Amino acid sequence: MTAVPPRHDAASVPPAARRRVLAALAAGALGTLMPGALTALRMPGTRGPSDDLCVTPARFDTPLHVPGRDGLMGRLAPVDGPVVLRATSRGGTGAGPALAFVADSGPRAYINPLLVVRPGALLRIRLANESAEPTIAHWHGLAMDTANDGNGERLVAPGAAFDYTFTVRNRAGLYWYHPHPHGATASQVSRGLFGLFSVEDEDEDALRAALALVPGETEIPLVLHERKSTAPGRYAPDAGDALLGWYGDETLVNFTARPFLDVTARRYRLRVLNAANARNFRLAFRRDDGATLPFHLLGTDGGLLERPQPCTEVFVSPAERLDVLVDFAGIAPGGFVLLESRGFDPMHAVPAQRADPGDLAGGESHAMRPSAEPMGGATTVPDGTPRQLLQFRVRATGAKGPPLPARLSAPPSVAVAADERPLRLGFAKGRWRINDRVYDVAATPIVVARNAVETWLIRNYHTSMPHAMHLHGFQFRVLERETSPGELAPLVAADQGRLATDLGWKDTVLVWPGESVKIAIDFRHAFAGEQLYLFHCHNLEHEDGGMMLRVKVG
Ligand code: C2O
Ligand code: CU
Ligand code: CU
Repeated sequence: MTAVPPRHDAASVPPAARRRVLAALAAGALGTLMPGALTALRMPGTRGPSDDLCVTPARFDTPLHVPGRDGLMGRLAPVDGPVVLRATSRGGTGAGPALAFVADSGPRAYINPLLVVRPGALLRIRLANESAEPTIAHWHGLAMDTANDGNGERLVAPGAAFDYTFTVRNRAGLYWYHPHPHGATASQVSRGLFGLFSVEDEDEDALRAALALVPGETEIPLVLHERKSTAPGRYAPDAGDALLGWYGDETLVNFTARPFLDVTARRYRLRVLNAANARNFRLAFRRDDGATLPFHLLGTDGGLLERPQPCTEVFVSPAERLDVLVDFAGIAPGGFVLLESRGFDPMHAVPAQRADPGDLAGGESHAMRPSAEPMGGATTVPDGTPRQLLQFRVRATGAKGPPLPARLSAPPSVAVAADERPLRLGFAKGRWRINDRVYDVAATPIVVARNAVETWLIRNYHTSMPHAMHLHGFQFRVLERETSPGELAPLVAADQGRLATDLGWKDTVLVWPGESVKIAIDFRHAFAGEQLYLFHCHNLEHEDGGMMLRVKVG
């Protein structure tokens, strides 16, 4: 066993410098802030993968919340008539979400229910807004017409309701639903208003049968979400948060802080959603002897891969999902395994445009991170900081499982269009932009012809941040990554620079600074007439700040 590493302070930005910058930022709206001034947030030096072992000592003293047949994240099959989701403020600092979708079904009560459906199901869902703020629910990852998409251009006022009627047209996979009121999405998601949406089909049934996986026992959703421990249930971003994203100092798993899970020494299927506003995780499993425990990736945002993909670590950015199979066989009772997020360089930088004389900026870009010091009573741990997320405690020996199925599913392929639609991600005039634009409800910069198949080339500037780019209404395939940062090199798993997580259907893809990511999208849909969708960054502060464009599909 390697020695326990020393405690690592989350950031080393001189507090005085950070305070000075934030005071300057507070003096003006984000829209008018001078990017140059932000360079004072820079960190001296960056952290690399060699700091993997640099972890904050964690104690795991709370049993992981495992979703069951009701209650928080309980499995609800909305088959017998309409489901009513009541957006409700649960207030305060107690356990669970401060703002939640609450539902009843017969005698059972649910908070943020995990909706379980089969492909082809016709759903009727009523959103009843019992909270004090306008909201709307969006079905992230689902093929949907605009009327049911919940894109935020129509809101449900407090006291009002909205009825969704739609057919489930997606293949099996783990999708999710979350609010989408423009400008308030980050606030509502950060307070816990979201749920999972699982589409299950014969491939799913076959996988569960082959590996003896039982939902709620050996198949467990893991929803990663964040809070500031000094201000749980509250969302009060400062100007730095608005620019870089809102990062908590505590990562919750299924709304549990410091979670552990007792397991048998056998296979577990973990279905991960990154529901954090802004944090990227570099997930890996570590045994108690310090060794990495490899695992298999079974699926991505839009369902199962063709075959299990061996991995040692994967990035998961906001809104992405991972379907992971980990095997605790061979770990003796009493041993444990940690799910951790390894350290990485978050590559936070903005162009240091020459601003006022006397500004701290030079002419180049600078890495920067928010600080771990308390700001306004709340704390932040910067992106890229190593975190220990969940401890698996092996309690019982298990039988060695059967071989993995060689084939999990037959994902449909996409024809590739030769023309590329260019999309550039960057920062200018105080805001993150796509093709130099910000969201405008009166403009539709992307127009796609009916039945088109398109190739999109998403390029992120070097002086930028990682952006988790999401398209409503359609799943896509990642064709190629180019000029990726060095820290992705060990994760490349296929040709064209693709990672394991690029090998399945996606609705959200992380694009690193300096990187180009090419995706193929089949825009054929079943709806009458033109439909309107959104393409945006799922760093929710970037989204709310306008890093979002409307997409019209004929
Ligand atoms: Cu999950 Cu418009 O997003
Ligand atoms: Cu979406
Ligand atoms: Cu972004």
